[in-house]
Order: sequence, then C-alpha cells, then structure tokens
Amino acid sequence: MKNKEHNSTGTSKDGRQKTTFSGNIGYVLAVAGSAVGLGNIWRFPYLAAKYGGGIFLLVYLILMLTFGYAMIVSETAIGRMTGKSPVGAFSSFGEQKWLKAGGWINAVIPMLILPYYSVIGGWVVRYCVEYLKGDASEAAGDTFFGGFISDSLVSEICFAVFVLAVFFVIIAGVKNGIEAVSKIIMPLLILLAVITAAYSVTRPGALEGVKYFLVPNFRDFSIMTVVAAMGQMFYSLSLAMGILITYGSYLKKDSDIERNTTRVEWFDTGIAILAGLMIIPAVFAFTGGDIKTLKAGPSLMFITLPKVFDSMGFGNLIGSVFFIMVLFAALTSAISLFETCTATISEELGLKRTLSSVIVLTVSLLLGTASVFGYGIWSFVKIFGMQILDFFDFLTNSLMMPISAFFICLLVIKVIGFDGIEKEVRLSSQFRRQPMYYVVTKYIAPFFLLIILASSLANTLGLITI
Ligand code: PFF
Repeated sequence: MKNKEHNSTGTSKDGRQKTTFSGNIGYVLAVAGSAVGLGNIWRFPYLAAKYGGGIFLLVYLILMLTFGYAMIVSETAIGRMTGKSPVGAFSSFGEQKWLKAGGWINAVIPMLILPYYSVIGGWVVRYCVEYLKGDASEAAGDTFFGGFISDSLVSEICFAVFVLAVFFVIIAGVKNGIEAVSKIIMPLLILLAVITAAYSVTRPGALEGVKYFLVPNFRDFSIMTVVAAMGQMFYSLSLAMGILITYGSYLKKDSDIERNTTRVEWFDTGIAILAGLMIIPAVFAFTGGDIKTLKAGPSLMFITLPKVFDSMGFGNLIGSVFFIMVLFAALTSAISLFETCTATISEELGLKRTLSSVIVLTVSLLLGTASVFGYGIWSFVKIFGMQILDFFDFLTNSLMMPISAFFICLLVIKVIGFDGIEKEVRLSSQFRRQPMYYVVTKYIAPFFLLIILASSLANTLGLITI
C-alpha cells in the first residue's frame, strides 16, 4: 500500500479523537438509515413498475450483490483506513490533483443533494399533516399535489421544518443523535412497512400486481432495464457521495466490514421490495391492472397512491401510517447527507461541529429555497430545460455520481491497491467475496460507470429516452 501511515484507533491524523458508533448494530442501523430513503419507497417502485416488474427486480438484485457490494466495501474500507471524510481520505494518499478532485467531488455531491432532497422531504411532511388531519380525500384530489408545490410559502415552510429537524439531530452528534435516532426509527419503519404491504397485497385483485412485480418476464427486458437498475442502485445504497467513506471513518477496527455490508445491502433491498409490495399491488387492484397508471413515474407515490388510499377502507389510517414511514426514511437519509457535509467542513476548515452544521444548514436553506421557488414563483427558470429541483437531481445522480464512483475505483486500483483494501477488510472479516470484489472493481465497474454516464447524457440531449 502506497499511502501514508494510518492508525487503527479511529483517531484522525491531527490527533483529534474521532467520535465513533458504539457498536455494529448502531453502525448498521445508521448506514441502513442512510440507504433506506425516498429512493426505496418513492423511486424504486415507480422504476420497477416502469421497467418490467420482475425482470427489473432480478437485474437489480444481481447488481446489488456484485457491484453494490464492491462499492460499499471500497468506500467503507477507505473511510476506516484513513479515519477521514472524503476530501481528507483521498488526499491522505498523496498530493496529486486528481486525488483532490476525487475527494471534492465526493464531498460536494451530498451538499447539492441535501437541499433538494429536503424539499421532497417537505412534501412528505405536507402529506403527513393532511392525513393526520383526516383529509384523505383532499390529498387524493387532482390538484392537491400540483397546488401545494406551486404554493411557494407552504412548500418553503414544510421544507424548513424538515431541514431543521435534521439539523437538530446532527447537533446532538454521532452517537447521541444519528445512532440514537436510527435505533428508534429503523425498527419502527420495518414494522410500518410490513403492515402496509400486508394490507396492500391482500386487497381484491392485488395478486396480479404481486406477480407482475416478483415474477421475471424476459420479454420485458431491455438495455434500459440495466441502466435504470444501475442508477437506482447507486441512489438507493447511497454510493459515491462520501457518505459511506464518512461513516466508515467512524467505524471501529473490530467491526466486521463484510458482514455489515451484507446486512445493509439486504436491509435496503428488503425495504425496497416491501415498498414495491405496498405500492404496485395496491395500484393494480385500484386500476384493475392498468399498466399505464403504473408507469406514472415520479408522481406514482404523490398522486396515484393517495387516490388508492382514498378508495380503500381505512384510507386515512393507512395513508397516515404510510407517509409517516416515508418521512422516517427520508429523515435518516437526510441525516447522513447532512453529517457528511458537516464532517467535511469541520475537518477541512478546522471548525467546530456546531459551526460547521450551521454552515450546512445555511447553504441548504438557500439552495433548497431555490428548488422550492423553481416549482412556484420562479417556475419560468429552466436549466437545460429542467426545473431547478430536477436539475440538481440530474446533475448529482446522472453526472457527478458515476464520475465520483469512477474516482473511487481508480483510487483502489491505482493507489491503495487490492492488497491494501484486503488488509483493511481482513482486520475484522474473512472477506469471502474477495475474488468477486476484485473482478467487479477492476473490470466491470469502470466500464458500467461510463455506460451510465453516456446514457444519462444521451437521455438529456434527447438521443434516447430512459
Ligand atoms: N439512499 C437514500 C435514498 O435512497 O433515498 C439517500 C439518497 C441517496 C438520497 C442519494 C438521494 C440521493 F441522491
């Protein structure tokens, strides 16, 4: 390994004692909390519905177990061996410019995602309030969603409530804030997901939806199934955005990286599958199996699902449970985005945690407000034909994330070396999937990343439709 010396106590290079998670469970729940978010409940079901149901799920599982696994292990090992968040982690391997660039791109991504993600979190807050008030039919109205997202004041308030909640958890710190909140929220989330999914799959006519979602039909396969599943995997597992490097830096040397990675992968995918089971069969039952409704895309959760709830018995209760669960999931993910930004600022500028988090809060409020206004009073502003929120989503997920992941692979292949990663992982794990890790990181990942980048660009330029 050609890197500078790293110590093994979770103490950073400048000698400051770093906070760590108290144990495996706290760590797994925090990382799973980061992974399980709007991506699982809002994004996964609409993509699965759109790209072939069962076949999408199959491709997703294969990618998650190979590519996803390799990326999580690389990032966590880099974080733990350096004890640093992305910028510090990359530059602790040398002074070259590309290492700086690699670190910064990983660090900037969460700062760009957090504001718009919190705006969507604010939408979820709005739905929670509506259902808790007992207004299921109001939320199911044709103009409800469009009406409030274009009302800049209401959206701004919901967004601010969401982002401030995250801020207070961060102020409380890693163990008392992130870990404590995740330990309460994540088990509750599983319980709520199981209840809602069980209710949904037992509706009359829902079984066809279950079949569509779970049974692969090879006629539905296209290359876009792979591209969409790959993009979703990055989004869902919180890959290539500095989060896993940062959380890895809080991980103790005796924590089993391999086993924890497997737990996180299955936790995240389990919730995505449950979300598919909550949404797809319910929509099937509601529409009598109309595939067109299922292909509603991003509006599936915010527009189609409230109509489904409204048509069901106990619509108000089920709607409340569902949106509270989505809110929990979104909160724990936003916490991880916020934490990564806070860690980078405090390490790079040498500032206290509290001051760093105030800076992150301020930037989030400013950029998030631009996204809120983009759907309201600034709706005339278009960037490459996109609204402000959609532009941030495109910029981070479609362009920056593949580049950032490419840098991580490069760091492993060219600088740390596979022996370096192996040494770190083997401190606490058997590393059974090491041969697969090697093949994926060296030969498959860089190639696939270029494909995602090219297809995203081609899609934006209108050459293909994803
Ligand atoms: N992995 C989380 C989710 O699926 O919602 C958090 C997240 C990751 C959000 C990446 C946004 C994002 F671009």
